Amino acid sequence: MSIQAFIFDLDGVLTDTAEYHFLAWKALADELGIPFDRHDNEALKGVDRMGSLSFILSKGELELPEEQVLVLADKKNRHYQQLIEHMSPADLFAGAHQLFADLKSRRIAIGLASASKNAPMVLDRLGIADQFDYVADAAKVKQGKPHPEIFLTVADALTIAPQDCVGIEDSLAGLQSIQDAGMHSVGIGDKQVLNGAEQVYAQLHEVDLAEVLALGKPQR
Ligand code: BG6
Ligand code: MG
Repeated sequence: MSIQAFIFDLDGVLTDTAEYHFLAWKALADELGIPFDRHDNEALKGVDRMGSLSFILSKGELELPEEQVLVLADKKNRHYQQLIEHMSPADLFAGAHQLFADLKSRRIAIGLASASKNAPMVLDRLGIADQFDYVADAAKVKQGKPHPEIFLTVADALTIAPQDCVGIEDSLAGLQSIQDAGMHSVGIGDKQVLNGAEQVYAQLHEVDLAEVLALGKPQR
């Protein structure tokens, strides 16, 4: 079978919200006196809100009661929501509309597998909510990335076998999730960091669709 679905991550793949997540976590870590830099953040990309917070707290060797942890998670989320308040269709990465159009013209389904509970709001702000055949509900995902659940949920909803899907990610956790789901993987970002992906492009507009679709063809 050939590739029948493209399943996108959102933050850092379709728009620069990965930077806003970093800035909001960095502000919280600074406030708690916990060292946190961009290198630490690579491990957090794709990881859900509570998982990210527990990584930061354990880095600072801080053990807090659950209610306090929830207050901190909420604080980070409110800060993040302020940072994305002014997002608009202009914040969609270059190449996204062309890629969606090329996929549609080939009747390839388009899914979203974002760990973010803010994803529906971001899709609305970017003006692309109607581009997707299926959007995973992050609130219903039991095992976050790097577990394959979210990518498998999208493939299942699209009724397409995982091996006929391509997952697109900017994060190490997300790539692991794609690989363990048995899908083809495309990384957006730094080749050195995302070295486990089958294809890596520095930016979304560089994605070569013919090259990616060739991943689904049997090797000769
Ligand atoms: C992922 C981001 O897409 O969503 C992570 O890469 C983020 O950085 C996660 O922590 C959860 O997002 P939210 O919006 O539910 O806190
Ligand atoms: Mg991401």
